Amino acid sequence: MDALVRCDCQVGAYLWGMPTHPSKLPHVGTTIFTVMSKLAMEHGALNLGQGFPGFPMDQRLSDLVHTHMIAGRNQYAPMPGVPELRAVLSKKIEAAYGHAHDPESEITITAGGTQAIFTVITALVHAGDEVLSFAPAYDCYAPAVELQGATMKWVNLSYPDYRIDWQAVRAQITSHTRMIIINTPHNPTGMCMTADDMLELQAIAEANDLLVLSDEVYEHIVFDGGRHESVTRYPQLAKRSLVVYSFGKTFHNTGWKMGYVCAPAALTAEVRKVHQYNVFSVNTPVQYALAEYMSDAGTYTGISEMYEAKRDLFVQALHGSRFGLKPAAGTYFQLLNYSAISDENDVDFAKRLTCEHKITGIPCSVFFPNLQDDKVLRFCFAKQDDELQRAAEILQAI
Ligand SMILES: Cc1ncc(COP(=O)(O)O)c(C=O)c1O
Repeated sequence: MDALVRCDCQVGAYLWGMPTHPSKLPHVGTTIFTVMSKLAMEHGALNLGQGFPGFPMDQRLSDLVHTHMIAGRNQYAPMPGVPELRAVLSKKIEAAYGHAHDPESEITITAGGTQAIFTVITALVHAGDEVLSFAPAYDCYAPAVELQGATMKWVNLSYPDYRIDWQAVRAQITSHTRMIIINTPHNPTGMCMTADDMLELQAIAEANDLLVLSDEVYEHIVFDGGRHESVTRYPQLAKRSLVVYSFGKTFHNTGWKMGYVCAPAALTAEVRKVHQYNVFSVNTPVQYALAEYMSDAGTYTGISEMYEAKRDLFVQALHGSRFGLKPAAGTYFQLLNYSAISDENDVDFAKRLTCEHKITGIPCSVFFPNLQDDKVLRFCFAKQDDELQRAAEILQAI
């Protein structure tokens, strides 16, 4: 009976008199994103909780998809992705970070960053392994690791800087540690890893023969003249890294669920063994369209400037409010600290903001396995300027 109370589906199975099965993810339930979005809808609140762009993508790209559909490119793509797209991506990465991935053996097109992450972990993490990452963290890493019978270990970062304590990382490494997962620019904090961070990571990964899963889906959203520190800039690190990217974050079409993963040929071969039985291949006309669209580098080089203007608008409009903030260094998320306003826990505060003030953010404790509460909410500023202005006016009045 103990197992029955741990997960809704088991209770359901019990009630219907069916055999019960222990959940493989007993701690996973409804996410805070669903909870907060439902609450926002019920209360007519302005929702800056959801992490996706609230403005249209470039119509040239959707027109290209249509063109390729009409041209008949509607059947299965090759398992690793259409060669034209992989060739464009190889050139793009080499131009940006100086690392040449072989399009044939080192680049695989996936159904979004999440599928790439799940596939990498499934292919390379074994039962009994330990995987280290940093909290707060994007929510798909831990379930993927736990489904392999492996263990997640965390190094917590803290408001306001969320910098990595590399001594704490070293202290967590054991003979079972197989992989480190990094995310830069970082969701939810907006922190960007520095060149020094990458050298520390490289030294630790080499000394302990670790794989690095580098989640770089926000590579094109870095502010204040900062440089995105891709692991691919560091040849010794690139040799042991699998780098995940997402077209959705770059081209404002998260609903297309398109991404890619780049890794040395031997690691890519393992990733593809899983990929081919998971999705096999992804949307053909979209791949052709992306290849054609991205042959013009101007389609993705100005994205940081566009988002920096939105960040500045939001931050400046909050000037003088009771919320504490440090402008995000990257991503389209801005954290706001409310400790000068309330000592409520962040989930209660986020709910009260939605119900009473009609504005929704995400409480950051949910990104920590130990629910560390720094009295911080995450607001997405990938929204129309008038929405950001309205959001700031509401927040100013609190
Ligand atoms: C840090 C991070 N990694 C990966 C993803 C997943 O990307 P995709 O939507 O392409 O699956 C997201 C999406 O929110 C993210 O924030």
